[in-house]
Amino acid sequence: MNKKIVLTLLLVSVCSLSACGKDDIGSLDDSVIINEGSLSDSAEQETSAESLQTKAGGYVVTEVPTTTTTITTATDELGNIIAETVPVEQAPEVPTPETPVPETPSETVTETPAPSVIDYTPSTAAAGTPASTAVLPADAPTQYDYNYGPAPTVYNIPGIKYIDNVLIANKSYSLPADFYPDLDQTCLSQFYKLQNDAAAVGLNICLSSGFRSYETQDYIYNDYVARDGQEKADTYSARPGHSEHQSGLAIDVNQIDDTFIGTPEAIWLEAHCYEYGFIIRYPQSKQDITGYKYESWHIRYVGTDMSYKIHSKAIEMGDPYLTLEEYFGIDSYYH
Ligand code: DAL
Ligand code: ZN
Repeated sequence: MNKKIVLTLLLVSVCSLSACGKDDIGSLDDSVIINEGSLSDSAEQETSAESLQTKAGGYVVTEVPTTTTTITTATDELGNIIAETVPVEQAPEVPTPETPVPETPSETVTETPAPSVIDYTPSTAAAGTPASTAVLPADAPTQYDYNYGPAPTVYNIPGIKYIDNVLIANKSYSLPADFYPDLDQTCLSQFYKLQNDAAAVGLNICLSSGFRSYETQDYIYNDYVARDGQEKADTYSARPGHSEHQSGLAIDVNQIDDTFIGTPEAIWLEAHCYEYGFIIRYPQSKQDITGYKYESWHIRYVGTDMSYKIHSKAIEMGDPYLTLEEYFGIDSYYH
């Protein structure tokens, strides 16, 4: 296969694959085919693009356990390596999770060409516009609380849209093609807390998809366009540069398709993810606002300060799942 693919399949060893939906991921022995299987036509209609990303290519995946992560390589039918995971420990210049992002907003930085060399240094004067006036709820976790999750790093990179220190990646706001932060370490550690607490009540919530590069998104999006046509693909898959997965702040859990809806894990996730700094990014009945159909499995890390603000605002408005578009008053469509 001569296509350039960097397909990041971050399979975290903490999450036992057998407990993580064997049916959707497949049993992982020495080699498996991730997500391969036959879906009925009707099931396929309902299924997210992401769940099919490896089905079409029939990627064979081999895992090599490490101490804290699982390195995964994917090969095609001929045995050529076509994809590899990026181990968490080797993430390029990932900022320390403990680094809090200053609350003080400064000038908006939008839509300027990306520099040839990316500065991954966290910004001290955070880019963004003051949009949120919501006061942090009294019950929000502080840095002394178990659930406290610092705001993600704000990067000093032209071309990335921040509002109130929250990175925006949607149909209206894209990321530079060479922006490659890998999965944010604070996001990952907060996910582990969420996962542990879910496990404590007998639920298995597993990381199925984390960081995806521009190139990976380009590959899978175009696969879906070829299969379903662009209009339909645009309802469930982001165009390259527009996926939150490229920001390193989005995680797909468990089954990446509509079979996850209504499961105990999905119900728990919707009720509790904000306690760890996440939001359900593409809620039900918000397709006209987010630009995407309901994705019960896709959570977005914003830090606990922001997730509590959004949750609190949502309660105030009588709408349990407020989107970033609604909270910040922005749109999401391809201009
Ligand atoms: N499925 C979401 C919208 C993505 O492709 O990023
Ligand atoms: Zn997703």
